[in-house]
Amino acid sequence: MENVMKYICLLLCFSPVFAEIICDYQTQYKKNGKCCKMCEPGTRMVPSDCLNPVCTPCGNNEYMDSYNNETSCNRQPYCDKNLNFNMSQSPSPTKYRPCMCKTGYHCSSEQCFSCLEHTTCKPGEGVVIQGSATADVVCGLCQLGTFSNQTSAVDVCRPWTNCPPGFYENVPGTNISDRVCENGRGRYFAIAIVVITIILAAVCFIIYILKDKIKRLLLCNQKKPQLGNLLDQTEPKMKAEENEYNQDHLTENNNPLAQEEGKGEHLPMLDTNLV
Ligand SMILES: *[C@@H]1O[C@H](CO)[C@@H](O)[C@H](O)[C@H]1NC(C)=O
Ligand SMILES: *[C@@H]1O[C@H](CO)[C@@H](O)[C@H](O)[C@H]1NC(C)=O
Ligand SMILES: *[C@@H]1O[C@H](CO)[C@@H](O)[C@H](O)[C@H]1NC(C)=O
Repeated sequence: MENVMKYICLLLCFSPVFAEIICDYQTQYKKNGKCCKMCEPGTRMVPSDCLNPVCTPCGNNEYMDSYNNETSCNRQPYCDKNLNFNMSQSPSPTKYRPCMCKTGYHCSSEQCFSCLEHTTCKPGEGVVIQGSATADVVCGLCQLGTFSNQTSAVDVCRPWTNCPPGFYENVPGTNISDRVCENGRGRYFAIAIVVITIILAAVCFIIYILKDKIKRLLLCNQKKPQLGNLLDQTEPKMKAEENEYNQDHLTENNNPLAQEEGKGEHLPMLDTNLV
């Protein structure tokens, strides 16, 4: 197809019938029946020779985006800082540079006469579609299992922390807070304390219920050795006392003296107590 077109073109161009010249429409223009050269993009033309034109570069904040024979360059649009446009964009002399909103701002309208700050998503909401220089942020509620704890124009809802092995969920996550994991040891310690407390309580309760039985049991156990001890101890004691008594109270003829008051009653008392 292209070849056919070229053939037709060649026929037309060189046929004596169609004598009119055809210039390269991109880099040439026709003047007085001749093909003249145009200036390159980024430059403008100083009126001069058709075949060897004088071209000069465009000035600051000017541009020419195509081959041309213009005597002045186009001006880049002025981007007002007070309208929240990005001032640091360096303009190119070969390209039209539209004003761009600075980071965190978007065009107020399709024509972009000024820029507005991006919407911020509240805690419990996250960015669903990130904002651009031309479109605002889109917020969405944090789905179950995700959270956002801050007001932000860039943060998405983050998933709750997965408790690693050996850890367990101590505080569940919400739409505004992360799940809190705790080391398993803490839990075992807590369980151990509870179990020990319950056991101690049970033991106290049992002791309370059976306190009379236990008392009796203890008393019985104590009485037997006490009896034995007392007998063991009192027998020689009694004998010793008897001897003493005998020695003290025997007359020269070895006849016992009359018992003193109190002492006589002491010994039988001991016997009745023990039985
Ligand atoms: C510039 O080029 C256009 C065609 O692209 C032509 O019509 C016009 O006359 C030219 N101007 C000058 C000053 O040569
Ligand atoms: C301005 O635009 C340039 C690139 O064009 C970018 O690198 C820079 O971060 C922007 N600055 C602001 C404040 O938006
Ligand atoms: C977060 O969850 C609570 C309770 O489920 C709900 O009342 C609240 O509206 C949620 N927050 C947002 C920003 O949706």
